[in-house]
This record gives sequence, C-alpha cells and structure tokens, in this order.
Amino acid sequence: MYKIYPKTLFLGQIIQYLPSCQSTNDEASALIAQKDPAEGLLVITDNQTVGRGQRGNQWEARSGQNLTFSLILKPNFLIASEQFWLNMAISMGVYDAFQPLLGETLRIKWPNDVYVGNQKLGGILIENTLHGYGITWSVAGIGLNVNQTDFTFSTATSLQLQAPLPNGYNLPGLISRLCETLEQRYLQLRAGQRDALKKDYLGVLYRYQQEHTFEADGQSFAGTIVDVDETGQLAIASQGQVRHFGFKEVSFLKCESAKE
Ligand code: BTN
Repeated sequence: MYKIYPKTLFLGQIIQYLPSCQSTNDEASALIAQKDPAEGLLVITDNQTVGRGQRGNQWEARSGQNLTFSLILKPNFLIASEQFWLNMAISMGVYDAFQPLLGETLRIKWPNDVYVGNQKLGGILIENTLHGYGITWSVAGIGLNVNQTDFTFSTATSLQLQAPLPNGYNLPGLISRLCETLEQRYLQLRAGQRDALKKDYLGVLYRYQQEHTFEADGQSFAGTIVDVDETGQLAIASQGQVRHFGFKEVSFLKCESAKE
C-alpha cells in the first residue's frame, strides 16, 4: 500500500497502487481509455513485469527496490509539435528531486535519461494521445533505480550505489517529493515560463557545450551540443555547421567505440 501526502495541488493526490503489473504506462493508458481519470493520477507498482523503455527496449527493475510509476496529465495547453516541452518539464522535475541527494554529477541526457556521471539512473517514457493538432492526454512513465545495487548492465546505477544510506531509501518518501517537484515544473510550463524551463534544462544537459564523439548514419563525428531546438531535436555543432537530429538519428559514443 502506498500512503503518501505530497504537498501538491493535484499531482499524486489520487493513487492507483498495484502490487504487481506488466507496465504502469499500460495501466495508465487503460484508465484513460475506460473513463476520464483525474489529472495527476499516479499509477505505481512494486513489481513491474514487462516495463517498457524508449526505442522499444525493456525496462527492468527488481521488485520492491525501485520506483516504477506513471502520471496521467492533460497538457491541453501544448500543441502536438510542442511535445518536447513536456519532456523538459518532467526531466527537470526528476532532476529537482534527486539533485539534493546527488549533487552536480546528476545530469539529464537528451532527450530525457537521468544520468550520474556516465551511468544511467533512470529513464522516462512519455506517451501522448493526440487529437488533431492538440494533446489530449499524456502518460509520463518514470523508472528510477533506487535501492537495487546490482545490474545486468555496467552502464546502470542507482541512488543507493551513488549516495548510500545504511538502510537504503524510503520509496514512499521519494515518490512524495517527486510529485511535488514534478508538479512545480509542470505548473511552470503551464504558466508559459518556457525560457526559464529551457535554461534550466540546458544547464543540466549531459555533454552540453563540450566536444564529444557522436554517430549518425553509420559515421562517427566530433561535435558539440549547442541547443535543443523548438521541436526537441538535438543541435550539434560540427565542422562549422549546426546539424539537427531527431531521437533515433544520433547516438552518443563513449570514447572511441561503444554506443551509449
Ligand atoms: C527508457 O529510458 O528507456 C525509459 C524507461 C521508462 C520506464 C518507466 S517504468 C514506469 C513506466 N512504465 C513503463 O512500462 N515504462 C515506464
């Protein structure tokens, strides 16, 4: 059972807790399809069995040790081409909750991975329902590695690995704080404070304004992230020009070889 008392207007005020489910994003989408759920409804599980990630990947999280949840939002103040603004708001909401625990090593890797150094602490999967040019519903699915300390991939990390506590982290306490910071960022976006939101997002963006190696169209190249444009594409300056990339069009390379 989840008993949380976030200091929010709507986000996390209604909770659908499932001891186990396939995917909280799927559960949230089913609620949208069945009835008209309240904005801010939080779907959370201890044991997500078929968690979905970006690019068709799976999201694995050991039962009872991590946060796997989805929020139902109605960002009808955004048009379809502005979807990326919601990604920025959700990313920053997660950042704001975890930054006091992790400090300056915390970064958001475009478009919305949560990184500590070169390791992934969490991921975000936002699924929008579009109607014409508008967005009627969004499901913001968030997976954060909290108390798990061993992972299949060496590129994964957790809060407990990065900032250990003797008894680990209290999951309801963390989700409560996340509801507050996520709502603050969502309200910032809803109030039209886009410049401030984007400034903060760029300020914590992984590899922003540093030269690194990327890969696009099977070719690696040196470049520097200089912006994220209005449509959410990554702008990379390379050899005197600025190239814009969509989500699946560019990879970050580690040193010389492995793709991240
Ligand atoms: C990624 O980095 O690939 C995104 C991962 C998103 C995982 C979360 S866990 C809760 C929600 N339910 C899902 O099935 N996926 C998201």
